[in-house]
Amino acid sequence: MTGIPPLVDIHNHLIPGVDDGARRPEEALAALEAMRAQGVGRLIATPHLDAGVTGRSDAFADRMAAVDAGWATLREIAREVPEVEIARGHEIMLDMPDVTLDDPRVRLAGGSCVLVEFPRLQVPPGSASALYRIRGEGYLPIVAHPERYVNVDVERLDLVDEWRRMGARIVVNAGSLLGGFGPGARATTLAMLQEGWVDVVGSDYHARPGRPLLLAKAYEQLAEWGGEDQARLLLSVNPGRVMDGEEPLAVPPLELRRWRRLRALFRK
Ligand SMILES: [Fe+2]
Repeated sequence: MTGIPPLVDIHNHLIPGVDDGARRPEEALAALEAMRAQGVGRLIATPHLDAGVTGRSDAFADRMAAVDAGWATLREIAREVPEVEIARGHEIMLDMPDVTLDDPRVRLAGGSCVLVEFPRLQVPPGSASALYRIRGEGYLPIVAHPERYVNVDVERLDLVDEWRRMGARIVVNAGSLLGGFGPGARATTLAMLQEGWVDVVGSDYHARPGRPLLLAKAYEQLAEWGGEDQARLLLSVNPGRVMDGEEPLAVPPLELRRWRRLRALFRK
């Protein structure tokens, strides 16, 4: 992997026993080793959290107690993989438009960026204003895998455009780029890359069979398409900036003439 800079991942489910990601410490350790093998030098673990829970103090305290325990386990395990620096955050599902972000544990590496998603892979009405409110509170919302939502596709990128104009940023899954979520999600990902609307590529790695870790492959695929600059920004520079609490840099539109011609064939 000569020439590939140290990669940084801001979306994965490595904290054991707290969501649909790593179940046991051994799975989390194997996941960290896989990260190291792919050249990941830094990552933020992002277990699921419902926005509704952030507003209910008892439920939130219970949830944080569970995640704190899992995080302590992951930190212990990570001593065996010292090449990979770890931090914590959450992937917050906006099951309701209001979310309380005061606690640094819910934000990415405790900084100003927050990873958000929408329920049931369907974008609800009012999504842009929910993101705008988060922005208004001084945080940077980063929307996870828009390419996977049923109401976002190559012919309907207007929501993504609207979110970006509200100040939100976008992280796509490495697997989407490589076709792992089907031709529709891949075409949507490529269309967004061609617009320059993708800020970060994340792994969304669940440390379970059937969903491989594809960060290095995504980097290589982008480079093969002539997008080495974009690959560096999407998989190293920008996620590194997010981890440091800084805004991602603009990513130049990716030129993919062949895909532009073919994209109509890859509707969901
Ligand atoms: Fe996720």
